[in-house]
Amino acid sequence: MKNSFYITTPIYYPSDRLHIGHAYCTVVADAIARYQRLCGRKVYFLTGSDEHGQKIERRAAEAGKHPQQFVDGIVASFRELWQRLNISYDDFIRTSEPRHRQTVQAVFRRLFEQGDIYRGSYRGLYCTPCETFWLERQLSDGHCPDCGRLVEMVDEEAYFLRLNRYQAALLDHINRNPQFILPETRRNEVVSFISQGLEDLCVSRTSFSWGIPVPFDERHVIYVWLDALTNYISALGYARDDDRLYREFWPADFHLVGKEITRFHCIIWPIILMALGLPLPQTVYGHGWLVMDGDKMSKSKGNVVDPLALIAEFGADAVRYFLLNDIQLGQDGMFSRAALIRRINADLSNDLGNLLHRTLNMVGRYNGGLIARPTEMSDLDRQLIDMAVTTAEDYARAMDSYDLNGALRGLWQFIRRCNKYIDETAPWTLARRESDRDRLTTVLYNLAESLRVVAVLLKPFMPETAARIYRQLGIGDAIDQIGFDDAKIWGEICPGSRIGNPEQLFPRIDLEKALAGDEPAGEQAGGQQLPPRDGNAPGQPGETGQADLIDVADFARLDLRVGRVLEAERVAKADRLLRLEVEIGGQVRQIVAGIAQHYRPEELVGQQVVVVANLKPAKLRGLVSEGMLLAASDGEGRLQVLTANRVASGSRVK
Ligand code: ME8
Repeated sequence: MKNSFYITTPIYYPSDRLHIGHAYCTVVADAIARYQRLCGRKVYFLTGSDEHGQKIERRAAEAGKHPQQFVDGIVASFRELWQRLNISYDDFIRTSEPRHRQTVQAVFRRLFEQGDIYRGSYRGLYCTPCETFWLERQLSDGHCPDCGRLVEMVDEEAYFLRLNRYQAALLDHINRNPQFILPETRRNEVVSFISQGLEDLCVSRTSFSWGIPVPFDERHVIYVWLDALTNYISALGYARDDDRLYREFWPADFHLVGKEITRFHCIIWPIILMALGLPLPQTVYGHGWLVMDGDKMSKSKGNVVDPLALIAEFGADAVRYFLLNDIQLGQDGMFSRAALIRRINADLSNDLGNLLHRTLNMVGRYNGGLIARPTEMSDLDRQLIDMAVTTAEDYARAMDSYDLNGALRGLWQFIRRCNKYIDETAPWTLARRESDRDRLTTVLYNLAESLRVVAVLLKPFMPETAARIYRQLGIGDAIDQIGFDDAKIWGEICPGSRIGNPEQLFPRIDLEKALAGDEPAGEQAGGQQLPPRDGNAPGQPGETGQADLIDVADFARLDLRVGRVLEAERVAKADRLLRLEVEIGGQVRQIVAGIAQHYRPEELVGQQVVVVANLKPAKLRGLVSEGMLLAASDGEGRLQVLTANRVASGSRVK
């Protein structure tokens, strides 16, 4: 297998700032690039901007700017977005750069000289916003089939690229290389398009000037798609003096593009390459769209989401994780803030955050912050270790076939398994007996190691989080050197190493507050409104006088859960308050309870109590309390906390 990997995104139009759809594509490419680097390949990751054409020329004129000045500003915003999203591109190509122009002109000249480009005249229907010519039969009611806007009739002298000449060879290539166009649905679309017959393609225009001139006929500028597609080799130095990168990295391994431009990449681009006698890319992958209300998200439709605002609010890794996990690669996906927040709370705060938090807490509390040497492994431990190794292997298989969603799914199964391992081994019980000391040490070591493996596998998807986990495990220095094999080797943490400062990875977000005012009520947490009872709000006296009766639906609103008290302590300067850490089905919560006059902290540790789990968090003496314990008190003020020691923690009380 060749040891280099060349991956590209589309070069985006700097006609406007980018939205979350562009960010999606670039994040997918970044995760793949980072994975390939983790595997030790030499990666070249290219993105950039497609700056020429009539649309940009018009937008610049509207803004009263020279096109170059206009695009310079917008391209700066692209770079800022990529920096905030931690996009690890190796090069950013701008089609207005001299290096690009030189390659494009050389390509054009060569194709002309060998007869693949010829001069003729063009009369046809053109969609300016899409920079695309259409045939009458392709229009829908006189409108562009892609963007729905009116097309214009243009009539001018132009240069043409002979597509027809290469039609049979292209079909043959597609048929013999099933990985050339992915996913399969896109391949079928392209094959059926080619089979209808390819008309020669107009590759120059005289009606505007913002573009690369045809080198031997300066009245013409080169049509944007020939200009744009060539970026994939101009960035490598093709047809220029220094073409070392070209020789090292071409052909591309992975052109990632949106499904609306797959055709250009699977027909025009390979034909240009064939005409030049160059090898074709390994894979063109046509990903799906992010949609809002069933419609493609796009600036012209005014339904876009600004990725910078999301990153500022939730952090780059949370946005990356949502895009990579929730959108099935190759298919269209929905973006919504509510779905993003739910995902953060469920996967990042609960599953991942809790695993780290619980592990570090216990290492701190029971082992003085040291990850000590493990001793004998039990069957349960061996199962966990086996699962770590198979998770890494399955992950690699998924990533090698560009199944990013599958890789993340497997990783999260492992994370959940680790949380269950904590419940099964119950370190808080082991901590009570000196004779269980070795067992406790082994369990904590296994948890720390599992987290290390998780961090390695997370690195391509959430680079900042992987580094934070490494730092908190006390091995932060190693993060830049790790390779994929580190996920498959168990036992890399040196016994005796000291953990770093624990910090919360992803604080839970109050969905209701975060959505207030910007989503329909049905999207909000607790949006399940009770049906009105005889026109009365629950709890108010009705005509029957039965003021305090509730029905089952009222009761069902309470989420009562059994939880295990892990830790209890007095709250300084508050006689009545105890601070508890209660574990509810794998999730640890802090609860501040007014029971200090009735219980000593140690009496509660290890008890299973009943918690109101869907109570709005409140602050007591500066401490956030996330729930309430149920307790009974008699007329004399004696108070007893309700316990439920025979069912599993997390069980629902109903
Ligand atoms: O087409 N959902 O540039 P462009 C997902 N310059 N991805 C989306 C999206 C959405 N709603 N909207 C845009 C061009 N994208 C040409 C490319 S390449 C040689 C020339 C992504 O600024 C998707 O990857 O219109 C799509 O193909 C690309 O942005 C189009 O960006």
